This record gives sequence, structure tokens and C-alpha cells, in this order.
Amino acid sequence: MERLDKIIASRTEYSRREVKELVKRGAVRLDGSLVQSADQKLDPERQIVEINGKRLFYETFSYLMLNKPAGFVSATKDGKERTVLELLDPAWQRRGLFPAGRLDKDTTGFLLLTDDGGFAHDILSPKHHVPKIYRLTAERLVSTQEQHQMEEGMVLDGQQLMGVTLRLLDEKNLLYEITLRQGLYHQIKRMFAQSGNRVVTLRRVAIGGVFLDESLAEGQYRPLTAEELKTIKNSREER
Ligand code: URA
Repeated sequence: MERLDKIIASRTEYSRREVKELVKRGAVRLDGSLVQSADQKLDPERQIVEINGKRLFYETFSYLMLNKPAGFVSATKDGKERTVLELLDPAWQRRGLFPAGRLDKDTTGFLLLTDDGGFAHDILSPKHHVPKIYRLTAERLVSTQEQHQMEEGMVLDGQQLMGVTLRLLDEKNLLYEITLRQGLYHQIKRMFAQSGNRVVTLRRVAIGGVFLDESLAEGQYRPLTAEELKTIKNSREER
């Protein structure tokens, strides 16, 4: 048995305070009867909750935030390499999750794993420009002219790229932050290589406005909160 306000807040966009308001307004029914109190207990597997006459369906998809370590490939199966799926507990492995997007084997940081194909398509689609933020260390400083080219949108192997945002975070350690709105194969490494520079370390820190939870050690993961999922979904831009 779980509390009604907790069940609704964890599966919808309503906060627990808003659920209380909905109950007060008589907008919530349990098995057809008006709910009197938001802290009422119920069995979500068996009982039917309706909000404003609409049945509450339970989330059927899973979304995990993984802090990817180096040395794992972003795939579900691989003949010879270890995959990010191997980092999950058996119960999660059985869910049929896959990485929504790829990080190179040596890239670390925020990788999303899901079984929601529509969501994965949406955040990866070049049409939606979901911003992804990376921190990288370079072999040498980026010149003003190179920075300008990257920000204006450079041509890479004959393809016109969208502009990126590049910020020098720490000059002594050659640490940069770069924001991409498209994700081509090895894009950052290739952009740097084009001007004879080299990416030494690369770590993704944010997807669609949600930052990697710093309390997750490399190899650890947790489900996205409803709020985080909403933020990522809302970050899609149609252009
Ligand atoms: N760009 C790269 O070069 N590698 C990654 O893993 C991600 C972006």
C-alpha cells in the first residue's frame, strides 16, 4: 500500500502539494469514489485512480542516469568489449534498456539508458537540438580564430556543422566546456583534430538542461526523477 499523493506525484507532473489541492477540489477518484484525503493509502497494482475523470496510468518506461566510466562501449551487445549494460544490476538488465545516444569508449559521464524508443528518438533526432554539455581537456589552448570557427559552425569533412558554445574554464589545466546541439560521430574529437589540437579527456556533464548527479560515482546510476525527465523533454527545440 502506498500513499495516494506519493503515487500521483511520482507518476505525473503534479507536486504533492498540487495533489492535495486536486483532492480538495474533488478532482480525484479512487475506484469511482471521491477521495477525501491525499494521504489515503491504496494498492496501485489493483486500484484505479482518476484525476479529472482521466485514469492514471503507471509509468511503463524506465529512464536511468548512468555515470559512464571509461572502458565501456555504449551498446547493448558487443562481441569483445564490455558494454554499459553490464554495469546494471540483473533486474535492470532484464528490462531491455539501451543507451539513448553514444559516448565513445574512453568518454565518461552522463549516459541515458531507457526502453522508451520514442523518447530516445526525440532526444537524438538532429531536428530537436537537445543541448549536451561536455567538459574536456585539450592538448593545447584553442586560438581565438579556432574558437570563432567552432562557434560560427565549422565545416567538418564536407559537412556544415551547427555552431557550438565553447568556454575556457581553467586555462592552466586546458579545461573547456563545450555545448553541442547535434551529435555526430566523434564530433568533438574531430572538431579539435581538424585544427591540429587533440581532446585528451572528455566527459559529458549535462543533457537537455539536466546535470549529471555528482553523487553518482563512475559506474553508478539511478532513475531520472519525474522533474528531470520533464526538463529533458521540454528542452527539445523544433527548428
Ligand atoms: N564527441 C566525441 O568526440 N566523443 C564523444 O563521446 C561525444 C562527443
